[in-house]
Amino acid sequence: MEGVTVRVGLLGLLLACVTTATTNKNRDWDIYSFHVNSTVTSRYATTIITSRVANRIDQSQEIEFHVKIPKMAFISKFKMTIEGQTYDGVVKQKEEAQQQYTQAVSRGQSAGIVSSVGRTLEEFKTSVTVAALSKVTFELTYEELLKRRLGKYELLIHARPMQPVADFKIDVYINERPGINFLEIKGGLSTKELAKAITKTHASSEAWVHFYPSKEQQSQCDSCGEQGLNGDLVIVYDVHRNTSMGELKESKGYFVHHFAPSDLPRIPKNVVFIIDRSGSMHGRKMEQTREALLKILVDLAEDDHFGLITFDYSVSTWKKELLPANQQNLEAAKSFARHIHDRGATDINAAVLEGTAMLNRNPREGSASLLILLTDGDPTTGETNLEKIHKNVKEAIGKKFPLYCLGFGMDVNFEFLEKMALENSGVGRRIYEDSDAALQLQGFYEEVATPLLTDVQMVYVGGANLTQTNFSQYYNGSEIVVSGQITDNNIETFTAEVIATSKSNRVMYSETIPTDEPIEARPDSHIQRLWAYLTVKQLLDKEVQSSGKAKEKVKKEALDLCLKYGFVTPLTSMVVTKPQGEASQVAHKPKEGEKPSGPMPGFSGPRFSFMSGQAGYPGEQNYHHQRKHTSTHAHTIGIHMRLCLHVYVHILSTIVNDNYLSPSLRFLLPAEGQALPLCYDIPVALSLRLLKDPNNELSMNGQLGQSASAGYQKIVIHYKNDQHIELDTTVITFNNGQDATVFFWSLSINHETDSVSLIIRDKEVDITIGSTRILIMLYERNGIKFMWPSLRQRPTGGNIMGIMGDVLYTLRTLLWIVCVCVCVCCRDSAVDLSIRSAPTVACWLLPLQSALQGELADFTVRQL
Ligand SMILES: *[C@@H]1O[C@H](CO)[C@@H](O)[C@H](O)[C@H]1NC(C)=O
Ligand SMILES: *[C@@H]1O[C@H](CO)[C@@H](O)[C@H](O)[C@H]1NC(C)=O
Ligand SMILES: *[C@@H]1O[C@H](CO)[C@@H](O)[C@H](O)[C@H]1NC(C)=O
Ligand SMILES: *[C@@H]1O[C@H](CO)[C@@H](O)[C@H](O)[C@H]1NC(C)=O
Ligand SMILES: *[C@@H]1O[C@H](CO)[C@@H](O)[C@H](O)[C@H]1NC(C)=O
Repeated sequence: MEGVTVRVGLLGLLLACVTTATTNKNRDWDIYSFHVNSTVTSRYATTIITSRVANRIDQSQEIEFHVKIPKMAFISKFKMTIEGQTYDGVVKQKEEAQQQYTQAVSRGQSAGIVSSVGRTLEEFKTSVTVAALSKVTFELTYEELLKRRLGKYELLIHARPMQPVADFKIDVYINERPGINFLEIKGGLSTKELAKAITKTHASSEAWVHFYPSKEQQSQCDSCGEQGLNGDLVIVYDVHRNTSMGELKESKGYFVHHFAPSDLPRIPKNVVFIIDRSGSMHGRKMEQTREALLKILVDLAEDDHFGLITFDYSVSTWKKELLPANQQNLEAAKSFARHIHDRGATDINAAVLEGTAMLNRNPREGSASLLILLTDGDPTTGETNLEKIHKNVKEAIGKKFPLYCLGFGMDVNFEFLEKMALENSGVGRRIYEDSDAALQLQGFYEEVATPLLTDVQMVYVGGANLTQTNFSQYYNGSEIVVSGQITDNNIETFTAEVIATSKSNRVMYSETIPTDEPIEARPDSHIQRLWAYLTVKQLLDKEVQSSGKAKEKVKKEALDLCLKYGFVTPLTSMVVTKPQGEASQVAHKPKEGEKPSGPMPGFSGPRFSFMSGQAGYPGEQNYHHQRKHTSTHAHTIGIHMRLCLHVYVHILSTIVNDNYLSPSLRFLLPAEGQALPLCYDIPVALSLRLLKDPNNELSMNGQLGQSASAGYQKIVIHYKNDQHIELDTTVITFNNGQDATVFFWSLSINHETDSVSLIIRDKEVDITIGSTRILIMLYERNGIKFMWPSLRQRPTGGNIMGIMGDVLYTLRTLLWIVCVCVCVCCRDSAVDLSIRSAPTVACWLLPLQSALQGELADFTVRQL
């Protein structure tokens, strides 16, 4: 126990070190103004973040602009103004932008803007060199169509300027013609302390929210500290719906129709839940699924009919047919749900086909059928060819009802699930592995719990270039949005019509654009942009579903719109040009599922296993969490600072002794939370001991290549009874002790034996041996192929040796680390190869011996 206390104390010290160093750096420049201005009209939000920064020192330095924006948004503008000169970001086709980026990299310039995806936010980061005592203004604009969920819209604004700002303002203006029904302010910044800084004005169709916290308030609130505000402001609202037809609005030849009736009776459901119980669902995921399922079952209405299917390598049904959700059946189903346990492999194909057959066998007049699949992995048994599964499922469902695919965790092939859902009128949704996973599952279910209409057809006479007009189901609390152009801008002949089936009859609404509406005085292009945004989103979904020539056509169409409207999407990138002499940077929109570039669980290399693990994705609150440690242990720092001086000398000698003549490769030693990870350099061409787990007779060794920008050329994994897996950059050789099987990296294959599961796909090999999971990725850079392993699940038990093992951090090592950070300017950067996009991350560079806490010789092997 004692050991633990000492370690926690040291953790505080380490964090203190990182914090001190960052704050010191920040004092050299000052964000004297930070404004966020968000304007929402007809649910289309345009947000501008403006940050003004002054270089306080008398020499030029690099100044960073770093913000987070909602994932659903498209960046549409970025500019920097330095010394009266404005530099605009230009949106280009991704490949073209990438080429510029690659050229910059090959010239040895780092030109990537690191961006990443969290649960709701993604990151935008850039920096520029600012002359002595000069100023810079950064301005970023992004746009999004707010989506109605569970009866409300949410506008999320994230604020974390990294310091208290003298002139800090968030202004929100909302204009909704049908009238604002309610408006609430939520999020981490809406605390008691900050309430005084928020003003909210709400007229019938307009609302204003102003958040002007003083410098003092910015550092005093709950989630804030010396580095100022850190959190979200979420504006939640809904609009009146006085007509069932909804709101039809026109401007400059474009229209948008918001349709969300709520005064209809609910339609009874036929719902089948298909639950993955494969081995990977083991533990918390399975528990959370059971918990959610139990609550969902309780929420079923008596006239709903339901079925339960669980699957691994085989498919089990609770009952052969759908049953009414009466008391007796629900009790029996709950007992079944409580006993769902994880078992084997994943046969998605058979499970979905069984669910489809079940719904098809039990048609019911006047009901709405839906299929909900929950899985956390790829198909590994039965039919595993993804294309064939898509084809089978699409044929079986035949557009008769929607299939919703929920992907649990980050290991699912989300693209596969999303495509399957989209092809069958549903949506793919990711469930993040976190303490609230059960709530996420319930939340999703709630969204589809109350069907009000089926077979919805939106018809616009005199309309052209329409977004999606046919919807298989409409649920209470959601909204159907259609936008398009009005032919010849002729409002007189334009009519809108909705034809749909409600519980008992076919309903029809019809309307023309109301001509009594006052024409808006200011030229307003937001409906046109809304149309472009929605069209691009839907084309991107369509691209996922199509192939061959059709795919190219859809892509081209989407790309043209993105370029025309300046949207940064998965097809485009923004090239940020900079003053002469500096490399331009390129901002990409990260893909859903791309891992955050920050330190996170599942990193390669040793970890501070005693650090408080923040589950899931680096939450926006991590920094706050660390600060607490800082203040608790502040008094210890003084004592240890003196010790520091002694060790300082030692470090200097280590650095001097480090062999800088031979090229070396940079490794990351991640820290958790928002603290910078540590990094260190290992000379190239060595044979390294990566992992040695004596408890499970498992070891992994790797041979580094000759190049400082590459990784491993050969990796060998040894396990029980002389069995081993040998990987080089062309083949993967699986040796069971007697004979060998060779696989190519280009294959897509699942290979399972008693003790090992090997999945090859997309230049990745996923190897599970006992409780240990290793992912090895194949990279190619500058014409050199190499591999990079990362531990996705650590071996159980202690004493794991090697570069990826549990390095034993003694008191001394931590003091070294503290000293390195405080006394030596060691901020540097490393490429994080454990993430496919290989982002460049900032890190504290440590001498090799401090990082390893031992001699390099302890981490090398003679034979792989
Ligand atoms: C916010 O931006 C809009 C559009 O650019 C502008 O009209 C408005 O004046 C701005 N509001 C504030 C408070 O700066
Ligand atoms: C819609 O109804 C609400 C309350 O019933 C009312 O306050 C609002 O003014 C109405 N809106 C319109 C555009 O008629
Ligand atoms: C739909 O939601 C509204 C509130 O948003 C509620 O008043 C209404 O009762 C709901 N309809 C059904 C059928 O549940
Ligand atoms: C929408 O549905 C109707 C009726 O099923 C069909 O005739 C029409 O072609 C569909 N439109 C689109 C764009 O799929
Ligand atoms: C629809 O889009 C096409 C291509 O952008 C354009 O040529 C056409 O004029 C648009 N139709 C209308 C009615 O505006």
